[in-house]
Amino acid sequence: MAGVRIDGKVIAQSVKDRVKKAAAELKNQGISPCLATVLIGDNPASATYVKNKHLACEEVGIATKDHKLDSNITQPELAKIIDELNADKSVHGILVQLPLPKHLDEFAIISRISPLKDVDGLTPHNVGLLAMKKAALVACTPSGVMEMFDYHGIDLEGKNVVLINRSNLVGKPLYHLLLEKNATVLTCHSKTKNLTRLCQDADIVITAVGDRNKFTLTSDMIKEGAIVIDVAISRFQEKLVGDSDYDSIIKKASFATPVPGGVGPMTVAMLLKNTITAASLGSQIG
Ligand code: GUN
Repeated sequence: MAGVRIDGKVIAQSVKDRVKKAAAELKNQGISPCLATVLIGDNPASATYVKNKHLACEEVGIATKDHKLDSNITQPELAKIIDELNADKSVHGILVQLPLPKHLDEFAIISRISPLKDVDGLTPHNVGLLAMKKAALVACTPSGVMEMFDYHGIDLEGKNVVLINRSNLVGKPLYHLLLEKNATVLTCHSKTKNLTRLCQDADIVITAVGDRNKFTLTSDMIKEGAIVIDVAISRFQEKLVGDSDYDSIIKKASFATPVPGGVGPMTVAMLLKNTITAASLGSQIG
């Protein structure tokens, strides 16, 4: 029997419905939630992501401030813009779209964002809180994946999870979130040996490689009834694809996410949710 398709659009909409209500309640209290985005350079994929984030904000009643900056901007110039956004009381969330052009120090820029406005959950402060189970603002894609498990009532306790990604945006935050739910997590990467065997033993495979020329998760690599979450998105043979061969995987898995329409919409929904959280945090602090 075919597995259940985890529909990111449906789950994202349920998050957005809750966010819309929360945004309206904040407005009743005199707080108008606002997200500032910072886009540097002319990477077309990044521009599309930021545009989608603005459209989603509009849909749920979150205001936006748009900073489109020249790719030649210097580190001090960008730092000054971050400082101004940190100080701006009408801005509750700051999102610096990644990756940054090579000449900019990404760690220094991210670290400069106020942890209270860090709707990406990427500052060292918020990453540390996550590791200690105290985070209010968690990276959007990982928390979106957790929301998918929650929506389908998938119990993670004692499950063996193979995570194929070790980035700050995806793999590391997911590791902590899964561990909090008492899963046993194996974080794999390009140097991992026997990846196929590890996947075949896993109850859940979460994959985020993003290069079909290097890696494809095929149905012979998972066990019967496994859960497959595909975080990747890339262009391959003129199509938008993830890491997994969804059509064959869904015949063997108990649950699987498609690409597109899987994890992608969740990232945006969780950004909106984090912006509401940041606006609430800001109002408590003043
Ligand atoms: N680039 C790709 N994904 C993300 C994300 O979740 N946040 C930011 N800021 N940049 C990204």
